[in-house]
Amino acid sequence: MGTRVFVDCDPGIDDAVALAYLAARSDVEIAGVGAVFGNNGVERTSDNALRLLELYGRADTPVAVGASRPLVQRPRSARAVHGGNGLGDVELPAPAGAPVAESAAELLVRLARETPGALDVLAVGPLTNLGLALRLEPDLPTLVRRLVVMGGAVRAPGNTGTHAEANVANDPEAAEAVFAAGFDLDLVALDVTMRTVATAAWLDELKGVPGERAERTSAFLDFYADFYSGVFGVRQCAMHDPLAAAVLLDPHLVTESLHTPIRVELSGTLTRGMTVADLRPRPRRDDRRPARVVTGVSGTEFLSRMLDALR
Ligand code: BDR
Ligand code: CA
Repeated sequence: MGTRVFVDCDPGIDDAVALAYLAARSDVEIAGVGAVFGNNGVERTSDNALRLLELYGRADTPVAVGASRPLVQRPRSARAVHGGNGLGDVELPAPAGAPVAESAAELLVRLARETPGALDVLAVGPLTNLGLALRLEPDLPTLVRRLVVMGGAVRAPGNTGTHAEANVANDPEAAEAVFAAGFDLDLVALDVTMRTVATAAWLDELKGVPGERAERTSAFLDFYADFYSGVFGVRQCAMHDPLAAAVLLDPHLVTESLHTPIRVELSGTLTRGMTVADLRPRPRRDDRRPARVVTGVSGTEFLSRMLDALR
């Protein structure tokens, strides 16, 4: 049986590449896409989701507009990382389709109830839509099969500040509610995504792949690599969201993980949005369901699968 997945995202360059990865797989049904603020405002991220699904041949996927702001704090911008339009300033044609009338949280809850225990959720943006879905349906963790989140930094430094990763930092209260809810949860955190990079050689190989999908994706990634060159000191870019998609579809790519409950720091003046795990040799007893924090993957296989998806 194939995978039925709901994708919650804030496209976003790496969100785009994650959608490309999923869309290329004939064994994957993208049952719905929720858009959330994050890499841009939600009007833009939902419009980008529609454009991307048309580019990648999944125009029939329902796209729902989600939260325009975090549960508590003010939204902030990621234009330096993802460009003024969220897609590296590469202009895709205006979408033929439009978002559905339901909110992203409503669409997720309806899809989960339709096929109890069979829907997978991939969350690669701030977790606000999932937090709102939990308010609508507290049994969501038992209705969905598993949740894979790109977010957090457990043993690694943050990327929006010293300790916090962007998706969690963009809505710490929502992330905390999601991590507390009891999902079968995989966390694809900066610990692994900052080590699984598209190198200059890989980006050059992608440039040589003919066809509109590969050409556009290569152009998005050129912008992303420009930004990440400043982070890494060499031309390469992290592949956060596509790696989370790959972990969901191909669990055998995971070579190393640790199992631990995750909490989000909500009040630290220097550490708000930090994902906290008790990594002591003898951690304190904890009622919270552990997450599987992915700490190692087969990067070579992932990147070659990614290239195949764009061929
Ligand atoms: C995450 O933040 C966003 O900017 C990316 O799309 C990714 O989901 C990485 O921290
Ligand atoms: Ca994202």
